Amino acid sequence: MYLTKEEENILNGEKGPVLERMMRLLSRLGDIYGADKMIPVGSVQVAGVSYKSIGDPGTEFLEDLASKGARVKVLTFLNPAGMDLEDWDIVGFPADFAGEQLRIMNAFKTMGIIVTSTCTPYLAGNLPRFREHIAWSESSAVSFANSVLSARTNREGGPSALAAALLGKTPNYGLHVDENRAPHFVIDVSARLEKDSDFGALGWHIGKVVKDKIPYYRGLPEWTTTDNLKALGAAMAASGAVALYYAEGLTPEAHLQKTENIEKISVTEKEIEETYDALNSGEPPDIVILGCPHASLKDIQHIASLLEGKALKKPLWVCTSRVMKEAANRMGYTETIEKAGGRIVADTCMVVSPIEAMGYKVTGCNSGKAAQYLPGFCKQKVVFKDTESLVKEVL
Ligand code: F3S
Repeated sequence: MYLTKEEENILNGEKGPVLERMMRLLSRLGDIYGADKMIPVGSVQVAGVSYKSIGDPGTEFLEDLASKGARVKVLTFLNPAGMDLEDWDIVGFPADFAGEQLRIMNAFKTMGIIVTSTCTPYLAGNLPRFREHIAWSESSAVSFANSVLSARTNREGGPSALAAALLGKTPNYGLHVDENRAPHFVIDVSARLEKDSDFGALGWHIGKVVKDKIPYYRGLPEWTTTDNLKALGAAMAASGAVALYYAEGLTPEAHLQKTENIEKISVTEKEIEETYDALNSGEPPDIVILGCPHASLKDIQHIASLLEGKALKKPLWVCTSRVMKEAANRMGYTETIEKAGGRIVADTCMVVSPIEAMGYKVTGCNSGKAAQYLPGFCKQKVVFKDTESLVKEVL
């Protein structure tokens, strides 16, 4: 990979050991994947934030970087942490876990990273421009940025995203290069999609089939919302490794794609029903957790309307970013949800928080991504249904 004089100087240690290490990491990555050069990035989103995921070695690594003067060069956000960073004790997160999580957040803050922990940075103040190069980690956010916003990002690992934040650059390969963004499959959807969870079910099924390739959807309903698209992308990135998709009439660059000679896959009601069967344990949930990817204000408004004047028999959480929670507070949605016995839990989610240590065994969710990860990451049995049905399960 070609390096400018300035980049070579960094690699030779002239800007200190931290940047030298970061440049070494990115130049190796660039060489492995055949990048021609480094390109500037407009923003970064770093994964590997929860103490549950990175443990003591990760915490010490971040504290070491911060103490050595590492400071980010571009707007940098974080993935969900392992707990609500303000109300962790009220929600019931263990105190020893909270102590470690707060150490991690302090290290990020020292590095100049915005401690807005969310998988929907685009709803919380980090919105890339059309075709802007960025370096994001969280797979559902990567999918949304590439597909719905038409920005350009690979699915970064935690360390490579951090390196991009500290250098303000990333190697030019993969989905940064336009030739690598052509679709591999046309997905003809004739199944009737009616409920919010149908998009997660569709995404989960297609992710399994196409793996890391690029699907082009036809036949998604005209009323499809951005929330539906975020659920679709998240599920494909979890059951497969889809980082970019197109949806005819819905995503900005779909009409520019050539689809004549590529393989077609059809999706009928049968595949959607089979997905619900595959993801459901059939047991009653101990808890319902919505907001994967993190709930938008519209999602929260909808949940509040379902809980208005009701009393829940079991816990219900709505996971979201701090920014959305503040707006929900102002609108009275938080109060409505709390009066019914539910909670808006900010900064974290059902997968990266220690719900198994809090005694939960069966979790209800409306997300194909959460349904994929809850059994492995949190030892949960899953109830995968739409929002209305899940609310009924705990009333
Ligand atoms: Fe976000 Fe957690 Fe789902 S990171 S996409 S809410 S598994």
